[in-house]
Amino acid sequence: MNKKIMLTGDRPTGRLHIGHYVGSLQRRVELQNSGEFDEIYIMIADTQALTDNAENPEKIRNNILNVAMDYLSVGIDPKKSNIFVQSAVPALPELNLYYLNLVTVSRLQRNPTIKNELQLRNFETSIPAGFFTYPVSQTADITAFDATIVPVGDDQLPMLEQAQEIVHKFNSIYGETLVEPKALLPKNESSMRLVGTDGKNKMSKSLGNCIYLSDDSATLKTKVMSMYTDPTHLKITDPGNAKDNPVFIYLTCFATDEDFEKFLPEYKNLDEMKAHYERGGLGDMKCKKFLFNVLDNYLEPIRQRRHYYEEHIEEVYEILKQGTANANKKANATLNKVRHAMKIDYFEDEAFLDDIKDKLDN
Ligand code: TRP
Repeated sequence: MNKKIMLTGDRPTGRLHIGHYVGSLQRRVELQNSGEFDEIYIMIADTQALTDNAENPEKIRNNILNVAMDYLSVGIDPKKSNIFVQSAVPALPELNLYYLNLVTVSRLQRNPTIKNELQLRNFETSIPAGFFTYPVSQTADITAFDATIVPVGDDQLPMLEQAQEIVHKFNSIYGETLVEPKALLPKNESSMRLVGTDGKNKMSKSLGNCIYLSDDSATLKTKVMSMYTDPTHLKITDPGNAKDNPVFIYLTCFATDEDFEKFLPEYKNLDEMKAHYERGGLGDMKCKKFLFNVLDNYLEPIRQRRHYYEEHIEEVYEILKQGTANANKKANATLNKVRHAMKIDYFEDEAFLDDIKDKLDN
């Protein structure tokens, strides 16, 4: 009777945006509420965020509670899920250190996520070693909790592959100890890497193309109204391209048939609206106004919950403290198993001294 355990996390480098929401948060909440899981851990990955923000600890510090509030406001329930802070779980770096011996530098160099991120960040030859090895530290995060399911975006698949390799290697050397994790991807393809409002890149804070969960109505309106659409759709009567159009991509993720009834009753559903756009005769302004209404309606309850937590920040602090205490309990138990499997638990191992004595006698 293997337990079903879910673990996932985010780097606290900023507030969470709708890309995080459709890419992972929404699914987490669904999974949390499915009742399928024996244990759930949601990690604020500050240690990992520091791997490429070493000079900028303030940014990370400032976003710990922001991310926690984003979690709570989308429906992560601290009664069901342990929200915790990575750096406050010392078993994690210790596991990381043992796992680092089980991977090669060339394997890390081949990790597509690392390759990609190195390029994005322009490290050139000054790659922080901690950044380079973060897939190993992420394996520690995952295995410390015996996670069976890790809901992530598709950019994290190489991380999960690397974690599986480390688990196999560990178990084959030291005996069955670690649990093999599986990635769980978003259901909807357009959710995997939600494109930014610029229509060019995936939504990312550094590119300024994000819609944040905590954006107020006015900010949301400005952002939606200036979104990139189809540059060849000049006149309303021109046929439009809905496929690569971020307005339609967002509508695919968020618009329900009820939204049509409420805000744009001339269409029954997105298929009808899309067909009209592609045929010609539907203007971008109208599409954007509808998208604004859909998102505003969607985000309003999230904003209200966030507002509650902003007014009750001590409550958030206590939730994190309790979640972190629970996380430490679990991770320490795994660390003990790992040290035992590696036979380096000298002071807990009653046979240790006898073994040594035997060897001295022979
Ligand atoms: N690397 C993940 C990201 O950038 C965050 C993360 C850290 C994570 N540790 C994790 C995700 C463990 C899943 C499991 O989004």
